[in-house]
Amino acid sequence: MTNTILQCLPTAGEAPRRLAARLAIPLSPIELHRFPDEELRVTVGPAAPTTIVYGSLHEPDHKLLALLFASEALRRGGAKRLVLAAPYLCYMRQDAAFREGEAISQKVIGKLLAEAFERVVTVNTHLHRTSNIADVFPKIEADNLSAMPAVAATLRGTLDPYTIVTGPDAESQPWVSDLAARLQLDYAVLQKRRRGDRTVEITFADPSIFANRSVLLVDDIVSSGGTLAACAKALSAAGARTIDAIAIHALFAPDLAATLFKAGVRSVKSTDSVPHPTNAVALDGVLANALRKECRT
Ligand code: R5P
Repeated sequence: MTNTILQCLPTAGEAPRRLAARLAIPLSPIELHRFPDEELRVTVGPAAPTTIVYGSLHEPDHKLLALLFASEALRRGGAKRLVLAAPYLCYMRQDAAFREGEAISQKVIGKLLAEAFERVVTVNTHLHRTSNIADVFPKIEADNLSAMPAVAATLRGTLDPYTIVTGPDAESQPWVSDLAARLQLDYAVLQKRRRGDRTVEITFADPSIFANRSVLLVDDIVSSGGTLAACAKALSAAGARTIDAIAIHALFAPDLAATLFKAGVRSVKSTDSVPHPTNAVALDGVLANALRKECRT
């Protein structure tokens, strides 16, 4: 019996195949069947003592249930250690009850996945008030990897040397400063105030630093596109020469790209954490570095 295998939830992308190839382990699909009454049947492949399940958790609700069912079947099939590789981890943004009666979804999802898996590996998950992923998964191993080595490897040698790496808010400072250091570029972060689900207001400490500069705008999640569009408009108004955007997790509808271009964004690239037409950065190297220890015989 192979000691470690990878099984994946159905996905439109090639990312799990690349990861299995890099780890040199077998890959098999997890089959999902929807009955006419909308209930789900989950069928896993043969389990190995260590089974890594690849499931990126955009459009998450049915996938969460599928993961719980898969975990039950895999354990019954002999898996002793289940590792979830979820490049995009859902429901991490609601880490507090902002109004009376609101559920703290981050806490619930952390507990749910910790009951099904021994380890969760994700990439640039959105942690705000919870600064450490260990606080989301206190009883299991958890890794919040950075996509920046992969982003830097993709962009190296392609950028104007006077590019300024920029993020929309103070939360973006860790990945913006990391990427800038890897590419030996300047960086700055903007100030963002959210007005609604799709509306944000962007301000600058010093708009003059963007005048006539190429800007690389990097955000962890692009969902409604409101943040990127507002940043692009503000940067154009500050005199930025070009604005290229990187989304770590491209949750936006592909046709939104037109709105972003209209707002002044010249190009958008994303990682393959979520299958999307803008995918340009493969995360298999970053994930494999963290998962290789699972493959020792
Ligand atoms: C929020 O703080 C995140 O870092 C992103 O800026 C946000 O999720 C982007 O969402 P949207 O594309 O809907 O503006």
